Amino acid sequence: MTKRILLIIGGGIAAYKSLDLIRRLKERGHEVRVILTKGGAEFITPLSVASLSRERAFTDLFSLTDEADIGHIELSRSADLLVVAPATADLLAKMAGGHADDLASTALLATDKPVLVAPAMNPRMWQHPATRRNMALLQADGVTVVGPNEGAMAERGEFGPGRMAEPMEILAAVERLLGGADLPLAGRHVLVTSGPTHEPIDPVRYIANRSSGRQGHAIAAAAAAAGARVTLVSGPVAIAPPAGVTTVAVETAREMLAAVEAALPADAAVFAAAVADWRTAGEAAQKMKKNGKGAPRLTLVENPDILATIAHRAEQRPGLVVGFAAETEKVVEHARQKRLRKGCDWIVANDVGPGTGVMGGTRNTVHLVTGEGVEDWPTMDKDEVARRLVARIAAAMPKGSA
Ligand code: CTP
Repeated sequence: MTKRILLIIGGGIAAYKSLDLIRRLKERGHEVRVILTKGGAEFITPLSVASLSRERAFTDLFSLTDEADIGHIELSRSADLLVVAPATADLLAKMAGGHADDLASTALLATDKPVLVAPAMNPRMWQHPATRRNMALLQADGVTVVGPNEGAMAERGEFGPGRMAEPMEILAAVERLLGGADLPLAGRHVLVTSGPTHEPIDPVRYIANRSSGRQGHAIAAAAAAAGARVTLVSGPVAIAPPAGVTTVAVETAREMLAAVEAALPADAAVFAAAVADWRTAGEAAQKMKKNGKGAPRLTLVENPDILATIAHRAEQRPGLVVGFAAETEKVVEHARQKRLRKGCDWIVANDVGPGTGVMGGTRNTVHLVTGEGVEDWPTMDKDEVARRLVARIAAAMPKGSA
């Protein structure tokens, strides 16, 4: 179906790729209107944009003198989707700050439509705390990000993340966003916990476990691909946060519980984190030193059970609560008991016994324990487990209430 796309081209060398993007969007039958920022117009001309889009290119010169023709509000409201490519550090900062001092930033502030940004800049600018901060704000606002990719930069000898995503990647992200309403979890909020927790012993030591976060992160990514708004509450992991997901980083079980409660309400919640069951009774304020009198005794106290706490809530209990059960023996029997004890709807039970390689590995063998019975799933990649679980969650959502 034909959609109307407002493409904002910022000032960067990657602007030439946006000409190709216009062509690809037109090939798909979309209408494309283009705003060239002042910087963008230094790299490509309004004439080349107009030739490809078969519409006049909008520039600041036009908007400031000729509002009567088509206003910036109309320009952003008549679009189904706004795409910013290349999104420069400056343009992203303006968006994050809500500035409106040229046609592009004004159109972006005036819109109530989905916005996709394809950042492009020098790797140091991309990694600068100010850009990190702006990106976090934009993602929290619901802006979708595609790229940037790693690679050699236009500046000689520079390498790193900062290359704008390729036109075909941007096109794929556009199609995902436009098709979003038809996706099975569109309009739903899915909450996922992932990774281990770290429970401090003293400022340099902590209690942890072997969880990599792969299974939980894969579930968050699969839920986002199914159209859900996803909040991922993750303990310390070495893997990247999935694209298109709001990730909240925490360290301890108590922080994880607080972040989960802050993210409610949710339509479904999946508790894939390997939460430490115990923490030390009192974290030492200073590094514990050897004093020649033998090893210290650690007194452990129990951490809050996040899954059980949320599943037993009277208010704002997610419609579907899914727990995991890491077991080393009597996997299904223990999982059945765990489902009842913790008050959750489903348990995904996995055998993490010695030699299975599940903890930290990429594959998983699980059993889905529901109120109706037990399904044994074949061994598969954690990504595939995630997709199947998300498909089951989507099928279990009450109809028509998103
Ligand atoms: N879980 C949690 N908070 C905790 C402990 C566990 O939310 N403090 C969640 C996990 O995310 C998982 C489920 O509870 O979804 C089961 O975790 P598991 O470690 O298998 O169970 P335990 O509660 O540790 O039970 P047991 O000691 O019997 O294995």
